Amino acid sequence: METLILKVDESIDGQDAIEKAAKIIRDGGLVAFPTETVYGLGGDATNARSARRIYKAKGRPSDNPLIVHIARVEQLAEAAEDIPDVAYELAKTFWPGPLTMILKKQRSIPRNTTGGLDTVAVRLPDNEVARELILQSGRLIAAPSANVSGRPSPTNAKHVYNDLAGKIDAIIDDGDSVVGLESTILDLTSDIPMILRPGVITRADLEQVIGRVGVDSAIISDDESNPKAPGMKYRHYAPKASLVVVEGDAYRVANYINSQVCDLRSEGHKTGVIVAEENAPMYKADIVKSVGSLEHEEEIAHNLYSILREFDNEDIDRIYSESFNDDGIGQAIMNRLLKAAGHRKVNANQESITRIIFVGKNGASRSPMAAAILKSMELNKDYEILSRGILVQFPEPLNPKIEAVLTGNGIEVEDFHAKELSDEDINSTTILFTMEESHKKRIIDKLAKANEGNTFVLSTYVGNELEIPNPYGGSLQLYGLCFESIKKTLEDLVNILDQSRSKEELK
Ligand code: TXA
Ligand code: MG
Repeated sequence: METLILKVDESIDGQDAIEKAAKIIRDGGLVAFPTETVYGLGGDATNARSARRIYKAKGRPSDNPLIVHIARVEQLAEAAEDIPDVAYELAKTFWPGPLTMILKKQRSIPRNTTGGLDTVAVRLPDNEVARELILQSGRLIAAPSANVSGRPSPTNAKHVYNDLAGKIDAIIDDGDSVVGLESTILDLTSDIPMILRPGVITRADLEQVIGRVGVDSAIISDDESNPKAPGMKYRHYAPKASLVVVEGDAYRVANYINSQVCDLRSEGHKTGVIVAEENAPMYKADIVKSVGSLEHEEEIAHNLYSILREFDNEDIDRIYSESFNDDGIGQAIMNRLLKAAGHRKVNANQESITRIIFVGKNGASRSPMAAAILKSMELNKDYEILSRGILVQFPEPLNPKIEAVLTGNGIEVEDFHAKELSDEDINSTTILFTMEESHKKRIIDKLAKANEGNTFVLSTYVGNELEIPNPYGGSLQLYGLCFESIKKTLEDLVNILDQSRSKEELK
């Protein structure tokens, strides 16, 4: 079968695109059409044959019901019966828009459309082309998302074409979907209205209109064994490469992912990462895709599927994604992301730090001083504490004035020779500290395994603005001053390390 591409506002065989598509629907054919959420694969909702064709084209299990799309609130009664007042209140506030309501089914809707259920899902989309198609066809249109079952939902006509070309009659091309994630599904047949699938209309939005709303527990937990929307039990939205979601503090997440990327690269694998725009500079992966700003969750929702699909065109084996805040719209984002990952999730904060490296320019002055001071301090966990230089041409011994100040403070350093920092020194549980911003930059530029997630200016990391003077060529007194400021800063560091250590123990 050849799949027609119908551009809105273009005419084919003297017929307007929508007119043409409407006729296909009336004749029992299938048309993919735009909605504000994602593209839908539409067929006549009252025709059992059309429903069967939809399941076949998508490769969708037939127990997974379709959503019936209407163009006017008055059509609600053509799809559902015993409609409670709250449905009309919700319609008034959110329709046209990304809200689907589950209601008792009308007799005219065949069970093929509802996956054998006595209830029906209904939605009035906020897209003029979609509504015009429904009106012109003279039918209600049953439509799941227009992707092959299991793949990310399509947010433009090309996505649909890639999945369904040759299997459906036509695709109406109306550019990008505005929202990018599927509608919120609200079940109005249970005692209290219950969200079965989160979307950009949030629980808080709904509660403002109708009071208490529940959330199907299968959405919130990792155990999806028995969701109330049949479709939610299937692995979904999955890109071709395997996806892992990493949660934790932004720095730790970046460090974890960067270090995985390095390891995979050494085994010959290419890796992509999905990150918030704000965090993108911390990453050193083969392909880094920014999904949008943390300040604009709707941007992240809009881009997510498109980015998952973009990765399918890249030759990569693994995708890592940052994790996002999971309330409000974030709940819908995390729901889709975790499904796409098959719930593979890692907490980067649990990868505790085991090695601390102080890095200086030549590695024979402030960095070994810091390492020696930290070793002399009491910490509630054993760390491997090292010092390195950015450029070490020969293994210099410890600077004599440093040695004098350390000895004067009761700290002995034996057998020291400067060493140059290399990638071998760094693994996923290493943290690097420099005394100066310029050193940090040089390290990150020079070494594959150093990045914004594991390399920090010491005073910035501990959050004091204490300047650690560079004593090079100065008096012994200046070296003494340097000792004092490093020691103060390290006391703050010990507090931070001990605190995160006790957090780990609580887990
Ligand atoms: O935004 C959307 O809702 C898009 C656009 C095209 O409208 N459609 C969409 O359809 O996402 P689909 O088929 O991919 O997802 C429909 C979901 C499935 O999880 C299905 O199980 C659930 O709705 N569903 C449909 N009818 C239901 C019913 N009677 N009871 C419970 N869940 C139902
Ligand atoms: Mg779908």
